[in-house]
Amino acid sequence: MAAVRFVPDPQGIDPKTVKYHKLANGAKLPAVGLGTFGSDRFSGEEIAEAVRGALKVGYRHIDCAAVYANEHLIGPVLKEAIDGGLPRKELFITSKVWNNMHGDGDVLLSCAKSLKDLQLDYLDLFLVHWPFPNFHAQGVSVDSRDPHAKPYIHAEFMKVWRQMERLVDMGLVKAIGTSNVTIAKLKLILRDARIKPVVNEMEQHPHFQQPELFQFCLDHKIRPIGFCPIGSPTRPDRDKTETDTVDIEDPVIKKIAARLNVHPAVVCIQWAVQRGQVPIPFSVRANEYASNLKCATEDRLTAEEMKELAGIDKKCRLIKGQVFLWNTAKGWEDLWDENGTIAQ
Ligand SMILES: NC(=O)c1ccc[n+]([C@@H]2O[C@H](COP(=O)([O-])OP(=O)(O)OC[C@H]3O[C@@H](n4cnc5c(N)ncnc54)[C@H](OP(=O)(O)O)[C@@H]3O)[C@@H](O)[C@H]2O)c1
Repeated sequence: MAAVRFVPDPQGIDPKTVKYHKLANGAKLPAVGLGTFGSDRFSGEEIAEAVRGALKVGYRHIDCAAVYANEHLIGPVLKEAIDGGLPRKELFITSKVWNNMHGDGDVLLSCAKSLKDLQLDYLDLFLVHWPFPNFHAQGVSVDSRDPHAKPYIHAEFMKVWRQMERLVDMGLVKAIGTSNVTIAKLKLILRDARIKPVVNEMEQHPHFQQPELFQFCLDHKIRPIGFCPIGSPTRPDRDKTETDTVDIEDPVIKKIAARLNVHPAVVCIQWAVQRGQVPIPFSVRANEYASNLKCATEDRLTAEEMKELAGIDKKCRLIKGQVFLWNTAKGWEDLWDENGTIAQ
């Protein structure tokens, strides 16, 4: 069958005008990416369709993961675009190994499955999704615990990391990185890694800025990728608690949104870009994902507004990770080394 020609949306954004960060391995990471976790609200087909539309409006950076269970639907979209003339080297595709695939040989299997599903012969970035090995069925209550879940054990993590390094050696992935780690864990990983992480994917939005971890990453040539950049307003109810705050209802964000005549979500993305982390907002709506990408083409926030936004951090972690706790853990804080030591 003849390839379907890749036709950019004439109303879209020229990818050449999208800012990027040069990573420690020399690769160019576009300053905004598209998230692909549908928070149980959208089907894999709808998300794959969003990827198709996003490529047409100018996205080149797509954040995927095996656990989102939609890579097999995104793959045909990527293949169609590449076969249709979009050069593979212009794309930056991320995937992640899930917590139940940390065993010997499993990281390679997970990468191979993601490559097959995404219909690619290499990934631009492969991440260890969480530094804790465990298994839980999809959609389980946050109180449920996997009896085999383990805390962070550095020697065990390094076995995972050695497999990640081999994937780079084999040319299957161009770069490797961490996700959901802390400064305490990163210090150990940086000490022992042969190939260092070039990015760390972490929760970052105006109400959860993580300034120390953010700066630590920059100081060590690790580019922060910020997930839930809008404060994940539509995340599953199981991930919501009474004390959570709502970024897009913050008066400072609403005031700036009114000045720019944009949705408060766009202010969150603009802030992330101007601060220096790479946001990966999710949306299946063309008007939303196009306005999110536009944030990577111009700096619209004044220095004064950036200062005001720095002042609204509520230290409100939304993705607490309760479901990954091991049997003897006291609470979700144990996952985040809040006093600087790694809980066992
Ligand atoms: N590494 C990790 O452990 C990890 C964890 C969580 C997430 N992630 C990644 O981060 C991505 C983003 O996180 P997320 O999806 O939880 O949260 P998010 O991007 O903060 O929020 C997504 C929601 O914001 C709304 N939105 C997006 N753009 C908008 C706009 N321009 N105007 C108005 N509303 C807008 C959409 O709501 P409507 O649908 O109602 O329009 C969308 O569902 C995920 O998809 C995933 O790829 C990674």
